[in-house]
Amino acid sequence: MIYSINNPVPLSRKSQELFSKKMKLFDVYAINPVEIARGEGSIVWDNNGNEYLDMYGGHAVISIGHTHPHYVKRITDQLHKIGFYSNSVEIPVQVQLAELLGNVSGKFGFQLFLCNSGAEANENALKLASFYNNRKKIIAFTGAFHGRTSLAVAATHNAKIVAPVNETDNVIFLPFNDTEALEHAFAAYGDEISSVIVEGIQGVGGIKVASYEFLKQIRNLTSQYDAIFIADSVQCGYGRSGSFYSHDLAGIEADIYSMAKGMGNGFPIGGIAISPKIKPWIGMLGTTFGGNHLACAAALAVLEVIEKDNLIENAANMGTYLIDELNKMDKVSEVRGEGLMIGIDLPEELSMVKKDLLDKNRIFTGEAKPNVIRLLPALNLTQAHADRFLEALDERLKSI
Ligand SMILES: Cc1ncc(COP(=O)(O)O)c(C=O)c1O
Repeated sequence: MIYSINNPVPLSRKSQELFSKKMKLFDVYAINPVEIARGEGSIVWDNNGNEYLDMYGGHAVISIGHTHPHYVKRITDQLHKIGFYSNSVEIPVQVQLAELLGNVSGKFGFQLFLCNSGAEANENALKLASFYNNRKKIIAFTGAFHGRTSLAVAATHNAKIVAPVNETDNVIFLPFNDTEALEHAFAAYGDEISSVIVEGIQGVGGIKVASYEFLKQIRNLTSQYDAIFIADSVQCGYGRSGSFYSHDLAGIEADIYSMAKGMGNGFPIGGIAISPKIKPWIGMLGTTFGGNHLACAAALAVLEVIEKDNLIENAANMGTYLIDELNKMDKVSEVRGEGLMIGIDLPEELSMVKKDLLDKNRIFTGEAKPNVIRLLPALNLTQAHADRFLEALDERLKSI
């Protein structure tokens, strides 16, 4: 028998069974049984036309609201010109983005390296720090989340998601907001510390705000020992806290700011803003997709809208309003956060509230363990939408 394309080798029964199975998704996400088909501002609709209020912003990603017309136009216009060319040529939209980001964030003289996600931003920040001072040790904190790539996950305080290959003695975890522990660590091995990485407001850790005293002490000690202060602003940055970087609220300047989520309003883009004291050399960092034309157009649109519509101010005002109103609800154990990054602690017996908000009031919120509702809505959340959420939460709390 001669086998050919028209007369292929017969497959064994086992192989036939294997090939007849459709490829499935790798099942790693806990999914709500809702299909979002459309969005506008802080409202999304499912495939049956049901309307939902989005107080979750697709996990702090939606900064200027879903399908903002300026955003859609800027990306569409760019796509009609060119969507991608590699970092081997001049890409003026990257330069425009760096300039606008410097102006809006107030980080003049900083340098921008563009990548594609939050983990990648932190990975590059940690690596850059090590290139800078030729050291290996990283200080991270209890409750921290910095991403799932190699070093980022090693600096994440969750053993469950650290694979054996990511384990390293180079990361030292200290208690969050503990200035004394920090001082002891620097006194003991300060000359070995390459960087300290800290979220201004811990997100996955349950909306825990870094105290200003703690952030100031990180600044003092990293400066004293020539270590790099990395401000993980992936979730708490980009205006969400009512300040461009939440670390700004402490009146300090970090050496590297990592950012991602709100940066592209859903278009994948991340970056690090790097202090002028860290000098680049050709080939030091690199990426294929980072800083592509489309991603830059998306990020430019976001900054233009943030600036034009005063969204940082709106985040501060709406945040203060929500926090004040939430504090009046007697079944709420604690309210934490800054701007539109808010954690609502509920007692154990109210653990179903988040699910009920979605099922009964059609409101998306986020969560953190053990029993925290996380609010991460678009920065242009309106008073009417804030009130709609407060009324729904009040109704849920009273119904129990
Ligand atoms: C503070 C912080 N850093 C880093 C990351 C990782 O970002 P990404 O999922 O884009 O890799 C996240 C994601 O939730 C985050 O909250």
